[in-house]
Amino acid sequence: MIIDHPEGATLLDPDEMEGLKFRHITTRSELDHLEQANIQSGMEWMRKSKRTDLLTESYVCDLHKKLFGEVWNWAGTFRRAGKNIGVDPVQIAVELRMLLDDMRYWATHETYPPLEAAIRFHHRLVFIHPFPNGNGRHARIMADALLLKLYRDKPIDWAGGHDLGSMNERRKEYIQALRAADRGDYAPLFAFAGIVGSL
Ligand SMILES: Nc1ncnc2c1ncn2[C@@H]1O[C@H](COP(=O)(O)OP(=O)(O)OP(=O)(O)O)[C@@H](O)[C@H]1O
Ligand SMILES: [Mg+2]
Repeated sequence: MIIDHPEGATLLDPDEMEGLKFRHITTRSELDHLEQANIQSGMEWMRKSKRTDLLTESYVCDLHKKLFGEVWNWAGTFRRAGKNIGVDPVQIAVELRMLLDDMRYWATHETYPPLEAAIRFHHRLVFIHPFPNGNGRHARIMADALLLKLYRDKPIDWAGGHDLGSMNERRKEYIQALRAADRGDYAPLFAFAGIVGSL
């Protein structure tokens, strides 16, 4: 069975484990490797794709499917179970719609500098927690997609030279910064992303 989740990661319930496309998986590290390979190809898709509909439910779900669809058969579909993080499952579509509308407004009206908009978007997306798993990785890549495609800017240095997937100081800082943002204090998350002089 899969053990050893880093802090701030959601646990899979048995229904979702059913969706694992590889039956022979027994350890967390085997799963990590399969997911990592899938994520690489998904990121490649994101970079090469000519799609311009980034701020739609369709793109958000398609990106999740490209990142995780070779490993999980529920990739790209919203969760139906409640989690310790995230909105009630029945609210996912409407909350996501509001976030995408807000993000479109921010981009059109240049409400925030690109990096700040991408960080705010990232936090709101993981707060909604649309998918059964992979929300952190998907929302980080989604934020980078906005920077690259919408703002023609460079992506965020999420890991900062560390492995954000395992428990370390960088991950602790990331999760604590998300929790502060949950309370309305974005300063730690901005600092985490290297935004200086905005506090
Ligand atoms: N208290 C919190 N408030 C907001 N978001 C949180 C909180 N704790 C965790 N998260 C987010 O949820 C993610 C974990 O959710 P999930 O397991 O679905 O994603 P994941 O891609 O598998 O995670 P990861 O790759 O970060 O381990 C974290 O990466 C983080 O983005
Ligand atoms: Mg997870």
